[in-house]
This record gives sequence, structure tokens and C-alpha cells, in this order.
Amino acid sequence: MPGLTAPSDYSKEPPRHPCLKINSKEPFNAEPPRSALTCSYVTPSDFFYKRNHGPIPIVEDIERYSVMISGLVEKPKQLFMKDIRMLPKYNVTATLQCAGNRRTAMSKTRTVKGVGWDVSAIGNAVWGGAKLSDVLELVGIPKLTSNTQFGGKHVEFVSVDKCKEEKGGPYKASIPLSQATNPEADVLLAYEMNGETLNRDHGYPLRVVVPGVIGARSVKWLEDINIIEEECQGFFMQKDYKMFPPSVDWDNINWSTRRPQMDFPVQCAICSLEDVSTIKPGKVKISGYAASGGGRGIERVDVSVDGGKTWIEASRCQKSGVQYIADGFNSDKWAWVLFEVTADIRQSTEIVAKAIDSAANIQPEKVEDIWNLRGILNTSWHRVKVQAGHSNL
Ligand code: MTE
Repeated sequence: MPGLTAPSDYSKEPPRHPCLKINSKEPFNAEPPRSALTCSYVTPSDFFYKRNHGPIPIVEDIERYSVMISGLVEKPKQLFMKDIRMLPKYNVTATLQCAGNRRTAMSKTRTVKGVGWDVSAIGNAVWGGAKLSDVLELVGIPKLTSNTQFGGKHVEFVSVDKCKEEKGGPYKASIPLSQATNPEADVLLAYEMNGETLNRDHGYPLRVVVPGVIGARSVKWLEDINIIEEECQGFFMQKDYKMFPPSVDWDNINWSTRRPQMDFPVQCAICSLEDVSTIKPGKVKISGYAASGGGRGIERVDVSVDGGKTWIEASRCQKSGVQYIADGFNSDKWAWVLFEVTADIRQSTEIVAKAIDSAANIQPEKVEDIWNLRGILNTSWHRVKVQAGHSNL
């Protein structure tokens, strides 16, 4: 294994910030407190959620580390870090969200299988690296290709980590070749996060970042890229991260009836208040994040302080000093927006938030309607209860 090794136990894990809420220790899965999440537009790496399925790989020798690109291509190639760094470098601000974000709330309706997450399995980072479309040109695949002359239609990313779901094999996923070779899709092989070398938890030395798509497709600790005919047959593409209707349970599931989830749907969450919070009657600031998939911007965020009877529009913001316009030229198309509204609240109530994206997709009202056995894509209206009383807020 050139330069990258996968430990079989958890004795060599990296240090982590003590503020993270640990949802599972081995493998390490943790999220920041929701109040910390929206302190800044760009999430500091320490506070960025960490989602793993095995022990964190170790780089033995960065000089020897390489990525092999092969499969249905004319010129298979082994690329070292220096080859990847030689390509034009792009900085892409993109929000990564785990499909299991807000799973804990969904499991209150009916039990679901999976690590529990509050609302912080999401973060927004500036990823630095080479575009996959440029990398694939090195093996003879031109930009905007959906099918190679050898029949390649998908790009599979393979890591080295040992995942029990893969019976001890590595994590893998794929995306369509048309997306991988489209420079506008901004798919990166990233070696930097927020201007610094990627850290071990987030994929050092090299990870894939697929903007606008559920985090599961952004493979960390990349070792192989395969050009293949059918989409990746790995566990996380075929037996996980698929959206089923509420009628499907473990005794009647047929995984092959559904496509692997790619784009994430429109989502938002209130981060300034826990469920339940005590507030002082009067003006209360309500803030949080909203994001959509596929590069769609956030057209509106509505907040209700009477359980969803009436709504107030929140302000939306990305970068300070730049007015946010959904799908606007100066907006980061792959990134979340932070929203804020101040409301007069005199009594105990339920505060609700819902976002609408630039394609007018809107979050579903009830979690029951989108319940699924794996507890993914809980994008139902986000609700927090507040009790009017004495508080330190
Ligand atoms: N890549 C590898 N090799 N192993 C993993 O367990 N988890 C995936 C993805 N890439 C994973 C992986 C999932 S489910 C998510 S949501 C994101 O990485 C999380 O990325 P992060 O830990 O940098 O936030």
C-alpha cells in the first residue's frame, strides 16, 4: 500500500477538540454543539463534523503516497502528490452534509438504524485542490465526457480504511463520469481545508469533494480512482444511503429498487436555540443555516414563532459585505447561507424554520412523511420549543 496504511484498531486516532459531541467513539463520529456551528460562515476544521466508518488511516511516507487511476481508460496512471499539486489549484467553498444529519429527531417517530446526529452533521469549508476534470485529462479523458471509448461511465473512488460494513474492506463510492469531467461541477481532489493541509480526520493527504452531493460520496484518504461501466457496487452505494418510503422496513426491503442518493435536498436548522430552551420574554434572536444540493441557492428562509401558523422571512447571508442573492454571480453556489431573524416572543411556544431553494423546492412539514428505516435526509421543518421564563440568553 504505497504511503498510506489503515490501522485495524483505534489506538492511533488523531487529537480532537474537546467541545465536539461524540456520537460514537469507535469509529469516531462527532459534531460540534449547534450554537458553535453558525458562529462563522466558514466552519473551522476543529469544529467540522467528523464521520468515519473505521480507524483513521496513517501516512507513512508522503513521498511514496500515490493515487492509481485505472479501469476503462487508455492510459492508466499513478499520480504522486507533486503531480496533483502541479495542476491548477482551485479553492471551492462547499458545504458538506452527512445524509444522516438530524437522524436523532427522525428516530423519535420510529426506530431507525444508524449513528444518531443532532443538527450539526454539516459544515462549510474552503477546499483547496485540483479539479477532478483536470486530473482525468491526464489519463486521456477529455472534459465533458459521459462515456469513454472503452465504455466507462462512472468514476469510482476507493480508500484504504477498514470498514465493518465492507467486511473489513475499504470505503468506496462513485459519481457519474459526466459530473467528474465537468469543470463547472467543481469536483475536487482536495489537499487543503480552510487554507491548511487537510488533517487526518478529514482525509489527509487527499480526499474527494463532490459539492452539492451528500457527504458519503466525498471519499477521504483516496487511494484508487477506477473508471467503470456501472456505478460502484460497494456497500455505501448499494446497501446504504438510499431513500426509501415509510412503508419499507427491514423485513420487506429490496435495495435494488432505489438509486444511490446523490444531491442533498433543501435543508435548514435553527442553531441559536436548543430544543427545549428557556427564553426571557421579549426580543429573541433566531439564527441557523440553510443549504440545498446540486448548486441550488437558498431563495427564502421562513421562521414561525407560533408553531407554523404565521411566518416571518429571515435575512440570509454568506460573506460579510456581499449581499446574498440565490444563484447570484457573487454567491458561493455550493455553500450554505446563515439566516437570522429577531422576533418578539412573550410566551412559551414552538419556533419553526423552513427553507425554499432556487428551484422552489421546499422542506416537508412532517418528519413522519419522510421517515425511512436508515434515518437519512431528515429535512422536515425544524422545530424548537421555547419556554418563557428566566434565562441567561
Ligand atoms: N471516506 C472514507 N474513506 N471513509 C468514510 O468513512 N465517510 C463519508 C465521507 N467519506 C467516509 C468517507 C461520509 S458518510 C461523510 S458524511 C463524509 O465523508 C464526512 O466527511 P468529514 O468527516 O470530513 O466531515
